[in-house]
Amino acid sequence: MLPPPDQRRLVKAAIAARKRSVSPYSKFQVGAALLTRKGEIIGGANVESASYGLTCCAERVALFKALTEGKKDFIAVAVVANGAVSPCGACRQLLIEYAPKAEVFVADPAKPKDIRRYTVTGLLPSAFSDFQAD
Ligand code: THU
Repeated sequence: MLPPPDQRRLVKAAIAARKRSVSPYSKFQVGAALLTRKGEIIGGANVESASYGLTCCAERVALFKALTEGKKDFIAVAVVANGAVSPCGACRQLLIEYAPKAEVFVADPAKPKDIRRYTVTGLLPSAFSDFQAD
């Protein structure tokens, strides 16, 4: 388990990333921060579209940023939003594919020391991961 001081540091990074949320439609700001085994932290925030379905969650923005910067081997991800929401189904799928060993820390930005812990595998049991083509 990630030591509590590191959990708090990651939550703080997610709170900082959340400030860059582009959420004019829902006005629901979400921040995420990924931690690699090397100690790198990559943040992301949700970005919304007038065509609502094109919206991308904070977790996926962080993941896509990290992956396309060559970062991998994620050991943890923090997600912060009002009410301490846990990742949506689409993000769980991407997390299991690209961050299967990660611990997931969820917090409300108003209570950053009140951190709930999950694992990616625990959030998405019996996941679809790889397949064999015909
Ligand atoms: N959202 C996230 O960024 N992450 C989640 O795990 C759940 C939802 C965003 C998408 C949308 O911009 C807003 O929250 C409301 O659904």
